[in-house]
Formats: sequence, C-alpha cells, structure tokens
Amino acid sequence: MHSLHFVPATKQIPTGLPTMEFSRSPRRTQVIEMVSAFVLLILLSISSVDGQKACVPENFEYMAISCRAHSALLTDFGGVGDGITSNTEAFKAAINHLSQFESDGGSQLIVPAGRWLTGSFNVTSHFTLFLHKDAVLLASQDVNEWTVIEPLPSYGRGRDTAGGRYISLIFGTNLTDVVITGGNGTIDGQGDLWWGKFHKGELNYTRPYLIEIMYSENIQISNLTLVNSPSWNVHPVYSRNVVVQGITILAPVTSPNTDGINPDSCLNTRIEDCYIVSGDDCVAVKSGWDEYGIAFGMPTKQLVIRRLTCISPFSAVIALGSEMSGGIEDVRAEDIVAINTESGVRIKTAVGRGGYVKDIYLRGMTMETMKWAFWMTGNYGSHADNNYDPNAIPVIQNINYRDVVAKNVTMAARLEGISGDPFTGICLSNVTIELAKMSKKAPWTCTDIAGISSGVIPQPCDLLPDQGPEKIAACNFPTDSLPIDQLEVQTCSSGKYL
Ligand SMILES: *[C@@H]1O[C@H](CO)[C@@H](O)[C@H](O)[C@H]1NC(C)=O
Ligand SMILES: *[C@@H]1O[C@H](CO)[C@@H](O)[C@H](O)[C@H]1NC(C)=O
Ligand SMILES: *[C@@H]1O[C@H](CO)[C@@H](O)[C@H](O)[C@H]1NC(C)=O
Ligand SMILES: *[C@@H]1O[C@H](CO)[C@@H](O)[C@H](O)[C@H]1NC(C)=O
Ligand SMILES: *[C@@H]1O[C@H](CO)[C@@H](O)[C@H](O)[C@H]1NC(C)=O
Ligand SMILES: *[C@@H]1O[C@H](CO)[C@@H](O)[C@H](O)[C@H]1NC(C)=O
Ligand SMILES: *[C@@H]1O[C@H](CO)[C@@H](O)[C@H](O)[C@H]1NC(C)=O
Repeated sequence: MHSLHFVPATKQIPTGLPTMEFSRSPRRTQVIEMVSAFVLLILLSISSVDGQKACVPENFEYMAISCRAHSALLTDFGGVGDGITSNTEAFKAAINHLSQFESDGGSQLIVPAGRWLTGSFNVTSHFTLFLHKDAVLLASQDVNEWTVIEPLPSYGRGRDTAGGRYISLIFGTNLTDVVITGGNGTIDGQGDLWWGKFHKGELNYTRPYLIEIMYSENIQISNLTLVNSPSWNVHPVYSRNVVVQGITILAPVTSPNTDGINPDSCLNTRIEDCYIVSGDDCVAVKSGWDEYGIAFGMPTKQLVIRRLTCISPFSAVIALGSEMSGGIEDVRAEDIVAINTESGVRIKTAVGRGGYVKDIYLRGMTMETMKWAFWMTGNYGSHADNNYDPNAIPVIQNINYRDVVAKNVTMAARLEGISGDPFTGICLSNVTIELAKMSKKAPWTCTDIAGISSGVIPQPCDLLPDQGPEKIAACNFPTDSLPIDQLEVQTCSSGKYL
C-alpha cells in the first residue's frame, strides 16, 4: 500500500492565484503534511466551526492502476459545492497546481460531498480525480464556458455540425496515467439544454461529451455514475491501455446520441461491470469516418467487454461502427445482458467507409424484449461529406456469436452485406431466440453474407447452413488473454481526513 504525503498548500499554492479566492476559503489549510497529524486535528476542528465539516470525506480506500503521493481537496482551491457557484476556476487552479507533481509521485484531487457546478476542465498526467460518493459534478449550462476545439482528425468534422466541437466536460490529451474514479460519485451533464438545441437545429458546434481522453495511455475510468450527458458519455480516442469499470450511465432512452462508452481508435481496452440505460448504443466501437478515418488509419483493436447490462430501446447493446474506417479488430464480449433494446450486436458500415470489422467474438448473452437479436448492414449511409471514395469497400469477416438466449424478440436477425462485397465468416452457434407472439413470419433476413450455424433456433437462413448438433460449439472464442487483462490495480488511500 502506498503511503500518502500531503502537500502543504500554504507553501505551494502558486502565487499568481487571486488571494481573494483563498481568503474566502479557510479550508485550504486542510491540505497538510501527514507528519503534522496533530495540526491536522486542530485544523479540522477549526473548520468544523464554520459548519462545513460534512464536506471533508472520511479516510477511504480505492483500487487504481497507480496511487499518488500528493493529495488535495477541491475546496482548497476555492471550490464551493452549493450547486450554484461556478467551480471552473477552482478545478483549473487545483489541477494546474497539482500538475507540478507529475514527475514527483503524482497527485489526486478529491471532490468532497456537494453539488459542484463547473465548466470544462483538463486533467493532467499521473493524476487521479476522485469523486466522493455524495459528490455531484454539474456541467455548466453556459455555452460560453465550453471552449470550441478542432474536429477529430479521423472524423474531419464534428458529428452534429461541420467544423469544431465543444470540448468535453472532463478532457485530457497527450497524457499518461490518469484515473477518474470515485465511490460512485455522479457526473451530471444536464443534457436537456443541449438536446433541445440539437432538436431545434440551434447548435453552432458539435455537443460536448462528458469524458474524453485523447492520445493518452494508462487510463482508468471507474466507479462513477454518469447522468444526462449532452451527447456521448465516455470517449477514449487515439489511446491505449484503457480500463472502464463499474460505471453506471443513465440518460432518457429518447435522448439524442447519448452513447455510453465509445472506444475509438484505441488499442487494448477493457470495459467491465457497467450498467447503461441510454438513448443510443450502450457501447459503440469506432475508428474514424470515411476518407478521414482511412487517412488517419488507427484501428480499435484488442477490446474486451465483460458483464455489461444495457437498456436502449432504440439502439444496440454493442455497435461496431458506423464510423469504422480505421478498422475494428479483435473484440471479445462476454456475459452481456440486454433488456428492452433494439439489437444485441450490430455492425454498421457503408460503401465509402473502407476499413474493416474482423475477428469479433461474443460468448454468453441474455436478451429480453428485442427487435433484432443481431443486425448488420452495409448500407448505413451517413457520410462525413460527399468526398468519400466510392471504391472504399469495407471488409467484414470472422464474426462469431455463441451461447445466446433471447426472449420476446420481434425478428431473429437482419444480416445484410454489400452486393459484390459479402460479409463472410459469420458463425452463430448455440443460439436460442424465442420470438414474440406478434413477430414476423420470416425471422431471418439475409443478403450478401456467408457463414455457418449450429444449434440455432429458429432455423437460420440458407446462407448460414446448419453444421449439425455436434458442432454446437462451432463458433470460436479466443482462449489467450489480451495484454489489458494483465494490467494490475492496487489499493490506494485518500489519507487521513478525520
Ligand atoms: C469499484 O467498486 C467496487 C465495489 O465497491 C469495488 O469492488 C471495485 O474494486 C471498485 N473498482 C475500482 C476500479 O475502483
Ligand atoms: C484544455 O485543452 C485544450 C486542448 O489542448 C485547450 O484547447 C483548452 O483551452 C484547455 N482548457 C483549459 C481549461 O485549459
Ligand atoms: C499529442 O499527440 C499527437 C500524436 O502523437 C500529436 O500529433 C500532437 O501534436 C500532440 N499534442 C500536443 C498538444 O502535444
Ligand atoms: C451507483 O449509483 C447508481 C445511481 O444511484 C446506482 O444505480 C448504482 O447501483 C450504484 N452502483 C454501485 C456499485 O453502488
Ligand atoms: C450560434 O451563433 C449564432 C450567430 O452567431 C448566435 O446568435 C447563437 O447564439 C449561437 N448559438 C449558440 C448556442 O451559441
Ligand atoms: C414483449 O415485447 C413487446 C414489444 O415488442 C412488449 O410490448 C411486451 O411487453 C414484451 N413482453 C414481455 C413479456 O416482456
Ligand atoms: C449453450 O449456451 C448456454 C448459455 O446460453 C450454456 O449454458 C451452454 O453451456 C452452452 N452449450 C454449449 C454446448 O456450449
């Protein structure tokens, strides 16, 4: 276990900060050296006099890929958790200050119980943001608090509008070793305002996400509840070694584009123990859009998804695409539960996307009340612009789904490849789909695909010929483990606050 060294804030707070902020905040003194435990006790009893003692989290432990040598509270930097005061400057000051410890054991910023209104802020390397279980970050509804940044190079434009995009609430780029976690604390995107602007066509730029980490490595996002994101929730992009664990994501099922977790051009990612109710795909695996994604050429590769529960009546549990122009390869999904969701796994692509979706493995999925258990289409359309290459034909191959039980399903599957470019190597085995009473007569729609099946009920289409009951375990699931499963976590501590 790591021992903590507390930063003497009075000595180390940068002098450039407005002093007024600190005179309003006597609690800055709570960042003290651990050696001065006696002083700590005195300071805490002083701060309890102003009735804010409840803000100080008790000593706690959490699991993380790295522990930190330095620790601070948001309140040490003028943070006010009243739900009204803006904390944008407090977050900036805190992280700016803590960034000096990047190469000195790293740092953690603890957000105590309270409602902390804030605009976007950037995280730094060797840094942990910890949200107390009763801490709620409230995303600012003042559009001017959201910096506009360049579109993603692999997309060429924003997804809502051409041109730039609002930076995400929590943003990081070119970082290493970042942990965003908490005792299931909450990040509330207050998305209503943005959904309204989206529907009314009033957006000048693409909506912000809640958490976006770009060009980074060794990232952990865990034990948080994310609610009402303006758009996507968690977006690791151009990154490697990413763990997303124990995240609850909640958004109205009719809210636009509130995807849960979107690994995008990422290598070596693990998504585990997540519960997602949303208006779009629960997990959407991506790698860039048409000619921009092809030119950028960074696939999403080596992705593990385990123990995911999804409710998304108008979208998929796991979507591959539609932006997949850099390629999607080696995805392993296990122990998935879907309720009242449009489709289980869906592959979405189009002529002009280029790229590939290959070596996809699903094992163990339970679904109830679905429109389609499986869906794939080569005719998704939705281009970045008209400059896409009509000869950029996506390759879809080696797609394996096994050990699936689905109930109350309207249509078993819709599997539609591209004419002259069939989707090949599709394997379905040990799949039982119980159709809803009102379901269509032909449960399978299959065009331009090739593959096999075994132990599949109802009897699949002719393009997936039955291999007989002895091949019930026909569809492959890799037995080796991916490097991301070797990433170890350790027990870290907040230090002694009480
Ligand atoms: C998340 O919380 C659960 C339950 O409290 C705990 O078992 C798990 O270790 C935590 N995970 C991380 C990565 O903090
Ligand atoms: C965060 O980083 C982005 C990209 O580097 C930058 O445009 C933005 O101004 C930064 N935001 C803050 C609050 O420093
Ligand atoms: C971040 O990394 C990318 C890719 O290596 C690089 O192109 C970019 O210039 C870097 N940005 C910054 C701000 O260092
Ligand atoms: C986290 O909080 C959400 C929302 O209150 C809740 O649904 C979920 O069960 C909690 N998760 C854990 C592990 O306590
Ligand atoms: C978009 O731009 C128009 C024209 O500049 C401006 O009136 C409007 O307030 C802007 N909308 C938002 C949401 O910023
Ligand atoms: C079955 O699915 C339909 C929608 O297709 C839904 O209305 C109905 O409640 C579901 N029945 C059960 C038993 O879940
Ligand atoms: C078929 O799938 C079920 C789960 O749906 C699993 O319990 C069973 O072991 C599988 N059978 C084979 C032969 O793999």
